[in-house]
Amino acid sequence: MFGLLRHLFKLQFLFVVAAVLAGFYHTEIRQFLRRHTDHYLDQAGRNEGIPVAFQADDEVGTLFTPAELSQFNGEEGRPLYLALLGSVFDVSRGIKHYGSGCSYNFFVGRDASVSFISGDFDAYDPETADDVLTLKPEDLIGLVGWRDFYQKDYVFKGRLIGRFYDDRGQLTTYHHKFLELLQQAQDAKRQVEEMRARYPGCNIEWSESQGTRVWCTKTSGDGKERSWIGHPRKLYSRGNKNFQCACVPDSELDEIDAGGNAAHADAMLKPYDNCEPRAQECFYRV
Ligand code: HEM
Repeated sequence: MFGLLRHLFKLQFLFVVAAVLAGFYHTEIRQFLRRHTDHYLDQAGRNEGIPVAFQADDEVGTLFTPAELSQFNGEEGRPLYLALLGSVFDVSRGIKHYGSGCSYNFFVGRDASVSFISGDFDAYDPETADDVLTLKPEDLIGLVGWRDFYQKDYVFKGRLIGRFYDDRGQLTTYHHKFLELLQQAQDAKRQVEEMRARYPGCNIEWSESQGTRVWCTKTSGDGKERSWIGHPRKLYSRGNKNFQCACVPDSELDEIDAGGNAAHADAMLKPYDNCEPRAQECFYRV
């Protein structure tokens, strides 16, 4: 009887220790579990076409003001934190990148999301440093890639009160706008990829006298032999000034040229200026 009581007491003690540890390290435990469910989340996200990082991250964690976050700068033994898109991560493990005097110390103690794209680590302006809606659509996708990276490799700590989260940790109107534009950027990217698969790339060469020459052959693009040659068209994605050259089969040219932008919503095929509609090569200068 006495032995049983002692056994139960031991068990109870172990439970208490486990509960305290779980409470203390709950963020790390969640991250560990998340890492192991990433594959499944990735699959789900891909099928639904929903940005996975935002789907998975329902955790609020600690709420930081910008002033509080700036204290986590590695000085006097304090950890190194950075914020990206309003999410705060502990990057102390990467001290060789983020420590004082290291290449990426610029990111520490603040949300400098824009610099993850611009690569400008010199001037920090709190007014603009996290104003990501000024970026191009494909850059928003790039930022989410960085955010996924931090979620996988470092420890999520919480949310920064400001542009992306309000003082209750809820998504701001700005954040919703970001998600909307991100979704559009992802849809546009998918459409361009579909168009790319359907309309192979052109051959391309440059000379000083002629400028850029684009032309189609039966193997242009992916190198695989096809039955048709095609005609060069400019393939754009929404909000992107740059274009790629795509070969469009003769049978689809009229429909595509007549439909113009409306027929291809996010991805657009446009004729080259000063190039006959059925020409097999076009020239342009940038
Ligand atoms: C937009 C420009 C850039 C940004 C925002 C950026 C950002 C970063 C960040 C945040 C890390 C640390 C990753 C971690 O925590 O493990 C890193 C690592 C690194 N970056 Fe960059 N980087 C940029 C451009 C470059 C360029 C141009 C080079 C090369 C010339 C470069 C070379 C490296 C190297 C070698 C590492 C270390 C990889 C390792 O040791 O694991 N980065 N970069």
